[in-house]
Amino acid sequence: MNRMKSFVLSLSLLAAALSPASANPLEAREAQMKERGRLLGSLSPIVKGEQPYDASKVMDALEALAANADADLQVLWPAGSDMGDTTASPKIWEDFSGFHAADEKYRADIAAAIAANPQDAAALAPVFGGIASNCGGCHEVFRLKRG
Ligand code: HEC
Repeated sequence: MNRMKSFVLSLSLLAAALSPASANPLEAREAQMKERGRLLGSLSPIVKGEQPYDASKVMDALEALAANADADLQVLWPAGSDMGDTTASPKIWEDFSGFHAADEKYRADIAAAIAANPQDAAALAPVFGGIASNCGGCHEVFRLKRG
């Protein structure tokens, strides 16, 4: 393959890889938020002692939360994306630095949980609670209530 052809091909692959997030930020952030819910839901029975403690499973979930949170706010929350099928509050764009700070705190709490490397439910409970407090904390301010 000549170089021009392979360059064009890699550009189109790049565009295909990027399009889901950039073409529809509403769907991308809905998927991001739903994954957060799923990951927290996988940890919750472990915190409660309803499932045996599995340190590597816990670490996998914490690392998946960190990867999930590692997204560009400007891409997922572009100005004007409070229109349509969304419960994003206009406050996000009125106070983008406050929204950014809430996101940073959430990421910091995930990083702290990973650093704590919890080995039992008693050690997981406080760091899990720290992460989970961000969900409601951010939703309270930056998400509209429906109905
Ligand atoms: C920095 C702010 C912020 C943090 C932190 C945050 N969320 Fe959200 N979340 C939002 C906003 C804003 C929306 C509304 C998005 C929309 O409708 O476009 C939302 C929507 C959701 C939704 C609904 C998705 C849908 O449309 O079906 C779920 C579920 C959710 N969040 C779960 C979580 C969980 C679980 C956590 C914590 C682990 C979390 N969120 C942390 C801001 C946040």
